[in-house]
Amino acid sequence: MSEISQAKPDYNYKVVRQFTIMTIIWGIVGMSLGVFIAAQLFAPALNFDIPWLTYSRLRPLHTNAVIFAFGGCALFATSYYIVQRTCQVRLFSDKLAAFTFWGWQAVIVAAVATLPFGITTSKEYAELEWPIDILIALVWVAYIINFFGTLVIRRVSHIYVANWFLGAFMLTVAVLHIGNSMALPVSFFKSYSIYAGAVDAMMQWWYGHNAVGFFLTAGFLGMMYYFVPKQAGRPVYSYRLSVVHFWALISLYIWAGPHHLHYTALPDWTQSLGMVMSVILFVPSWGGMINGIMTLSGAWHKLRTDPVLRFLIVSLSFYGMSTFEGPMMAIKTVNALSHYTDWTVGHVHSGALGWVAMVSIGSVYHLIPHLFGQQSMYSTKLVNVHFWFATIGVVLYIVAMWMSGVLQGLMWRAVNADGTLTYSFVESLEASKPFYVVRFVGGLFVVAGMLIMAYNTYKTVRAPKGSLVAEPAGQAA
Ligand code: HEM
Ligand code: HEM
Repeated sequence: MSEISQAKPDYNYKVVRQFTIMTIIWGIVGMSLGVFIAAQLFAPALNFDIPWLTYSRLRPLHTNAVIFAFGGCALFATSYYIVQRTCQVRLFSDKLAAFTFWGWQAVIVAAVATLPFGITTSKEYAELEWPIDILIALVWVAYIINFFGTLVIRRVSHIYVANWFLGAFMLTVAVLHIGNSMALPVSFFKSYSIYAGAVDAMMQWWYGHNAVGFFLTAGFLGMMYYFVPKQAGRPVYSYRLSVVHFWALISLYIWAGPHHLHYTALPDWTQSLGMVMSVILFVPSWGGMINGIMTLSGAWHKLRTDPVLRFLIVSLSFYGMSTFEGPMMAIKTVNALSHYTDWTVGHVHSGALGWVAMVSIGSVYHLIPHLFGQQSMYSTKLVNVHFWFATIGVVLYIVAMWMSGVLQGLMWRAVNADGTLTYSFVESLEASKPFYVVRFVGGLFVVAGMLIMAYNTYKTVRAPKGSLVAEPAGQAA
């Protein structure tokens, strides 16, 4: 063996540390915004008659902050960590890594500086105006070059499956973002999409659904395939299944977008195709979930003592739940009831909070001690408290939205014998109000957990290097 391959690689952990800390900070910001808009839904006076505090402007700020700032930073941090560790080599370029960090933070700051002032393309999850879109594209291309460049210079021949998911996530997001953001600028702050009518809608939901499929799913599955085996101390349950999972997932997701446009001007056959593809998508989704959870076989007892593992495994359960629910909601007759109601919002958060946020939080708890020269977090008990806060918060949130959503759907379709509507829209709003309060309380639990995480991280980072040792099994939880 040559000297090079024996030497311990000098990894670039600086960029991983930066993105990890920003994950926590943006998580608190984005989720607090969620709590604020949740409160506005039952107490509208909370906009204080200030235009930039109105629900319509803060809602897209919430979605951008949690998906792209919190989720994005978590993906950057973990992908840079995973690709270095599994390729046994330092990142391809430190300069590109620094550019992606500062560029991505600039994108987020630009979102904060434009969305509350009503500067928006009005395309959901693609609200940012064209100059910011160009910056996103530049950062993303730099990210892709750095990630794939690292794969090219790897010191092991095998490419671990997590990297397959991460690579697919990066490439697809580039195509989606560039394709859907094509626009004609009319001023520095205003542009119009080059697509029109039903084609615009189709492009938008091809993007929107695959933002879910590749940004919120494939990337986080990459995270799952690295951190679940690491934290459990076990190899992946079935490596073969993980490869089948990869090919099935990426080849199916891309077709499912039309389920967002049932009963619209979109040609009927595209709606039916989207529905069928969505139903089939259940199979690889559950294959992946089972592969993740079964990685614990022979090590189930660890769940009793390790709250980080609990975060990871419970996130997989929520992944299973939302990917069972999604295919059901994609069936046209079910969608006729669920569309426009809070059921969709419940589904979104069982995926986004239950799966995406919890797998990210678990992975960040795994990472922090490694990145800051410790064996464990400052307090494993506080990690456990966070776990319960997060779980209680998510359950309150999604159960409240399911109940409110089904109630809304049933009230809207109820008709009297003479064909008139049984309920007015305002009556359905009144019926939803108690559930909005419960969702707000759930959100408070989630944010309180994030603040505990920030405190625990601060204490871990500030502790003298090597002073925090792992607690003996059994004491932690
Ligand atoms: C404390 C935690 C959170 C709270 C209280 C919260 C609250 C909210 C509220 C009130 C809405 C608007 C719902 C409506 O218009 O009826 C919303 C929408 C949304 N949130 Fe959150 N949220 C939280 C965390 C998250 C996280 C972590 C993510 C993603 C990773 C996320 C992603 C979204 C998305 C994608 C939507 C749009 C849903 C749709 O259009 O159907 N949220 N959230
Ligand atoms: C097999 C997997 C899945 C399928 C087939 C699926 C299907 C669906 C369907 C049918 C809708 C409702 C569309 C409508 O009536 O407007 C929806 C909405 C949504 N789903 Fe899923 N879903 C899946 C998994 C997930 C996961 C894991 C997440 C999050 C991590 C997620 C995030 C969302 C979001 C954000 C929306 C709301 C989009 C919007 O209207 O703004 N989905 N999904």
